[in-house]
Amino acid sequence: SAIASAAAVMTAGVLPEFVWSQTPSSGLAFPKGMLWGCATAAYQIEGAAAEDGRGPSVWDTFSHTPGKTHDGDTGDVADDSYHRYKEDIQLLKALGVSTYRFSISWSRVFPNGTGSLNPKGLDYYNRVVDELLANGITPYITLFHWDLPQALPGGWQNRDTSKAFGDYAAFIGKHLSDRVKHFMTTNEFVCFTDLGYRDGRFAPGLKLADGPANQVRHHGILAHGLGVQALRANTPSGTQIGLAENANVFVPVMETEEHIKAAQRATRIGNAPFLTTLMEGKYPEEYLRHEDANAPKVEPGDMEAIGSKLDFVGLNIYTPSYVRADNSPLGFAVEPAPTSYPHMASPWIQIAPECLYWGVRNVVDLWKIPAIYITENGCSSDDVPNTAGHIEDTDRVMYLRNHLTHLHRAATEGYPVKGYFLWSLLDNFEWADGYSKRFGIHYVDFKTLTRTPKQSAEYYRQMIAENAVV
Ligand code: NOJ
Repeated sequence: SAIASAAAVMTAGVLPEFVWSQTPSSGLAFPKGMLWGCATAAYQIEGAAAEDGRGPSVWDTFSHTPGKTHDGDTGDVADDSYHRYKEDIQLLKALGVSTYRFSISWSRVFPNGTGSLNPKGLDYYNRVVDELLANGITPYITLFHWDLPQALPGGWQNRDTSKAFGDYAAFIGKHLSDRVKHFMTTNEFVCFTDLGYRDGRFAPGLKLADGPANQVRHHGILAHGLGVQALRANTPSGTQIGLAENANVFVPVMETEEHIKAAQRATRIGNAPFLTTLMEGKYPEEYLRHEDANAPKVEPGDMEAIGSKLDFVGLNIYTPSYVRADNSPLGFAVEPAPTSYPHMASPWIQIAPECLYWGVRNVVDLWKIPAIYITENGCSSDDVPNTAGHIEDTDRVMYLRNHLTHLHRAATEGYPVKGYFLWSLLDNFEWADGYSKRFGIHYVDFKTLTRTPKQSAEYYRQMIAENAVV
């Protein structure tokens, strides 16, 4: 039989001719014009923490506080990208990306958060933008990726910080929008509000009660809203304004009507104080009722700013939860993951590639969002150079290939996926995990700061060249 003879050929170590005569392409081509990029953030890559007039951020303080980060790691040097940005832009160029998402260190530009400008800080970002453009790479700028200027009194507990963010956004808009056409206000609300002020795992490491912690959340989304207004007022029309949000992604346990509906309900409730409030211009009733006396205090004009129309929504997606329909008042139940569920080097990254499809679909079906970017997706791996110095990160390639396959599904079904930013260009300072978790497609030797492309960089380059899953 055919099977028997194929087996005989295989045993002989020769593959049948027809296998090789077919093109290796998966057939999973993305729509023309799909943008491919990489993402980073200032505190995680720049280093030069006290150089050229940069003021400290809450992450400088936090990482220098004993016991707060893995092995006491700090972002003092990180990838030293402040000095090596040209080399990093050449890495981007070698990948063939069309875009790069990076963030501005607020306290590099305004060392005190407000008040006087540090011209050398602004210079640096001017140089990065110019160097990107000179290499044919479109900059996408995040204004705030967690490194709040330490000097702002009370941090996000203080409503004035939201206003200060608006002023900072206006300034950056005014000075960079001649060359930069895409801005994201904030990155991942829950990480700089709840993780910083409610459970204390991130800077500034506070453990506030529900009332004040909910107010911190409110100041976070208010900052975003004031930031959007400030950018609109200080950039040319046509400038694209959005944010990068790690909305909770809910994957239906089965792809049937009832569970799909449940995933949608879960998306709305599971993102109540953040994306849902932005999209609907008000806190969902269910959230207010649940928080009751601890609900945030809202001033006139807040909700109007928070509900500002956006040109795009950026989603940072790494992992989902599974959800099923049930008869509870909310109509869904989230399934806890069994202990055997597979995960990447960071245990919180449980591998469920469908999250890229459902992450896009749930929010677009709910809120009719005109444009979606995946502003982050990627994973940590236990990368170890082999004797030849190569990093064969086959697990990261597996992760990327499978996630991209599900993103391809979303794109072919007509969901408005405009671009994808891989996290991350480089291994970097992974917040409380310090340098113990590597997310880069380039390996960084943190002693010499040498960058080496991993197998995943080769994979991504090929994928970009074919505009298809390979
Ligand atoms: C989300 C954050 O935006 C980024 O700073 C972080 O390094 C990655 N996810 C990985 O945890």
